[in-house]
Amino acid sequence: MTAPKALVAGNWKMNGLKAAATEIVKLNDLVNENGAKCDVLICPPFTLISTLMDLSADHVAIGAQDCHMNMKGAHTGDISVDMLKDLGCGYIIVGHSERRADHSESNDVVNAKAVAAQSVGTIAIICVGETIEERQAGNALNVVTSQVTASIPAGATTENTIIAYEPVWAIGTGHTPTIGDVEEMHNAIREVLLVRFGDKASDINILYGGSVKASNAHELMAVKNVNGALVGGASLKADDFFGIISAYDEIG
Ligand code: PGA
Repeated sequence: MTAPKALVAGNWKMNGLKAAATEIVKLNDLVNENGAKCDVLICPPFTLISTLMDLSADHVAIGAQDCHMNMKGAHTGDISVDMLKDLGCGYIIVGHSERRADHSESNDVVNAKAVAAQSVGTIAIICVGETIEERQAGNALNVVTSQVTASIPAGATTENTIIAYEPVWAIGTGHTPTIGDVEEMHNAIREVLLVRFGDKASDINILYGGSVKASNAHELMAVKNVNGALVGGASLKADDFFGIISAYDEIG
């Protein structure tokens, strides 16, 4: 029972024009020249997936930030999992807190999107996380473990599921939970996975996200049951992002 390789994933959100392709070339070169002890993924906006896929070579996987729950049809402006698979995406983020907030995505919607992603053989990165009000009220563990339980599809496997714990109040704010709080939450998520997947639960990566940067990556990534990072702002520049990837050089 060996844990899978850690994953450091970048979420570019609604950032990046064609010129940002140079960052992928640079990132690919950095990983190629220096090596990486973790898997590396960038999820750019839909508009850049095809371009970046052609430039990322073997060292940087390219994924998507969202998908529609239906396979095709009358859904103007939406993108299906088949379309993403067709471009070569191996990972799709679902249920990011910005989608849960901006597009009122419930756990049921997130679950349905994960079903769609997994149905075409891509890995669903299922995001969960509490608001500051929920944490201050002492409900963080309940909220997050309920999200995990409700958002993982019935047919999910340890091979096609990744969880990303991102406290909403830590995203883009420069604030991070204490190391103790991160450990407590990741342990609680692992417990949920153990109930669900038994011994194989350790095969599922649980990423931490929310204001991860090169200067705090080592401390956060070294926490038990933290198996990688989901990174927003610090993933936009190859040098910054590579600083986070390099944290794994010192983590056994
Ligand atoms: P941040 O975003 O690293 O800019 O805090 C993380 C995320 O939303 O995935």
